[in-house]
Amino acid sequence: MSDSARRITLAITGASGALYAVRTLAALLEGGCAVDLIVSDVGRRLLRDELGEEAAADRLPAYLAGRYGAGVARGHCVMHSNRDVGASVASGTRLTHGMVIVPCSMKTLAGVAHGLSRNLVERAADVMLKERRPLVIVPRETPMSLPQLRNMVASAEAGAIVLPAMPAFYQLPRTLDDLAAFMAGKILSALGIEHDLYREWAGQVER
Ligand SMILES: Cc1cc2nc3c(=O)[nH]c(=O)nc-3n(C[C@H](O)[C@H](O)[C@H](O)COP(=O)(O)O)c2cc1C
Repeated sequence: MSDSARRITLAITGASGALYAVRTLAALLEGGCAVDLIVSDVGRRLLRDELGEEAAADRLPAYLAGRYGAGVARGHCVMHSNRDVGASVASGTRLTHGMVIVPCSMKTLAGVAHGLSRNLVERAADVMLKERRPLVIVPRETPMSLPQLRNMVASAEAGAIVLPAMPAFYQLPRTLDDLAAFMAGKILSALGIEHDLYREWAGQVER
């Protein structure tokens, strides 16, 4: 996988937490990754609702550069339609290092847990599982029903890393960006990508 070692698929679905998605995307790009981006219909709405019109899916490159700086130009991002189940990332022949769904709605979680492949997000996730490549799912809902909890278990049993949107507070976050950076860092770590999005725990709180 030498040439494709930094190829990551990032899916944004219709759960709250668009800030987690853009921080993760920016971090991958800052790290020089080639990102295949898929945004569901409600994911598109959430980007605009939670971050403003300037963060609309089709304007994300400019939004990321404005918010996180020119470093995002180190990476490369290609957008795919969620309806295009024939896109490159729908096939296991495309060597991709891993995939993250951030945030992941309960609907998409259910689709992944049951291998439904109804759209490109679900199909690309299914490919990660069948090819035994890293799939990170970042679900967000509260409280959770028993079917939702069972779908997380089924996804984990199939090989996914279930990484709920649960930022920690021992890093003493001051801003929403600090919380988002923590989640983005956990996601990159789960994908095996180095980053400096948070300090390693040194045995005590560092003020
Ligand atoms: C403003 C808004 C916020 C939502 N927040 C969540 C959420 O946090 N978690 C969730 O599972 N669904 C949430 N939903 C519902 C999903 O968007 C809905 O189930 C949708 O069908 C998911 O489709 P998708 O997974 O293809 O994006 C929200 C919907 C809207 C409009």
